Amino acid sequence: MQMRVNTQKSTPHRKSKCVPPLDTVVLPIANQPNQQFEKASRVIKLTLISPAKSQQPIPSFSIFKFSEMAKPVSIEVWNPNGKYRVVSTKSMPGTRWINLLVQQDCRVEICTEKKTILSVEDIIALIGNKCDGVIGQLTEDWGETLFSALSKAGGKSFSNMAVGYNNVDVDAATKYGVAVGNTPGVLTETTAELAASLSLAASRRIVEADGFMRAGLYDGWLPHLFVGNLLKGQTVGVIGAGRIGSAYARMMIEGFKMNLIYYDLYQATRLEKFVTAYGQFLKASGEQPVTWKRASSMDEVLQVADVISLHPILDKTTYHLINKERLSKMKKEAILINCSRGPVVDEEALVEHLKQNPMFRVGLDVFEDEPYMKPGLADMKNAIVVPHIASASKWTREGMATLAALNVLGKIKGYPIWSNPNQVDPFLDENSPPPAASPSIVNAKALGLPVSKL
Ligand code: GLV
Repeated sequence: MQMRVNTQKSTPHRKSKCVPPLDTVVLPIANQPNQQFEKASRVIKLTLISPAKSQQPIPSFSIFKFSEMAKPVSIEVWNPNGKYRVVSTKSMPGTRWINLLVQQDCRVEICTEKKTILSVEDIIALIGNKCDGVIGQLTEDWGETLFSALSKAGGKSFSNMAVGYNNVDVDAATKYGVAVGNTPGVLTETTAELAASLSLAASRRIVEADGFMRAGLYDGWLPHLFVGNLLKGQTVGVIGAGRIGSAYARMMIEGFKMNLIYYDLYQATRLEKFVTAYGQFLKASGEQPVTWKRASSMDEVLQVADVISLHPILDKTTYHLINKERLSKMKKEAILINCSRGPVVDEEALVEHLKQNPMFRVGLDVFEDEPYMKPGLADMKNAIVVPHIASASKWTREGMATLAALNVLGKIKGYPIWSNPNQVDPFLDENSPPPAASPSIVNAKALGLPVSKL
């Protein structure tokens, strides 16, 4: 089983010399409008934006109608006369990513549809007949159909705005010569912080207690009221000690003086060294030292740990990694945290386990059938559930948008691939232009793309 996780984690300048003023904009949305959308069965609503003039979309005009009418897909357009057409299936945080594309002669079209999850059909309509690259989201099904449509439209460039890409059929993309980008290196700490937040919230029953207060049920201090677990001196278990898993482990060890047990195919040498050094520091200060152990099996972690956080990638080997049998191996009062991918946990088995073991607690950021929860989960007081927000800090989300845009731009411009996708600081520095490279292309090798010497 591959446990190493492919992880981690401005204002733009508004004056782009290559952006024409709004009144010189030529309509409609493509250079060859009739050809571009002749097959689209959508009404496209446009809003044109001139970054040189305004940060806000300037509502202007137009509705295009095509043969079979279906639901409208609305978009806003930046730099309408740009040479390369780049589509983003969602509005993304910050505006640096837009400016970087516009400065490099891209016309940027952002889907502004209200619906949260776009269908394959919606995205085909967005791609149209001429499209150089697409920035997509983890909620979308990027497989054969979309890569074939993108390739037919002349596009060779796609990026997920996410580090995980289990929604992308990379082999299909490679078959069509499409580069697939992702956004590691910018979300490690942010994601680990959410896992740590859930661990604390679950151990001290914060969400339950908050609900109790708001319901007006608090009528005085009581010795038994919302008694939870002390973390200090307990054992934190990490399944998948890659970048996010290791960052989470450090937070729990350094912050709460927990001992570590982890399971990973690879030895987490830096993490082990950190725990050893921190243990020595504590000992020298007259405190109980923290310890670490690399477990020989995942079950050992499940049996020993008090708080367990899951950080594997999702693939065939990690689907339902936590199932009924494995849940039964955990301590009755253990805490389970999942900020990786929902299907890593058999959610039905989890609901049953929560019912049978009221002192067992869980903190979930991800769900097996997002956006849905399995029946019964929402009723469980011993579950804390948040809507896939692990990477949702402003800095990280803006950085993810920038990296995704630069992945797409890099392929369009023929740039090489950045040699270390986890060291992406030069791409995130708002005060200097980003390197001429794609930050992270997962099928770079398969496509034979050159690596940057920078
Ligand atoms: C979020 O879940 C991501 O993979 O970036």
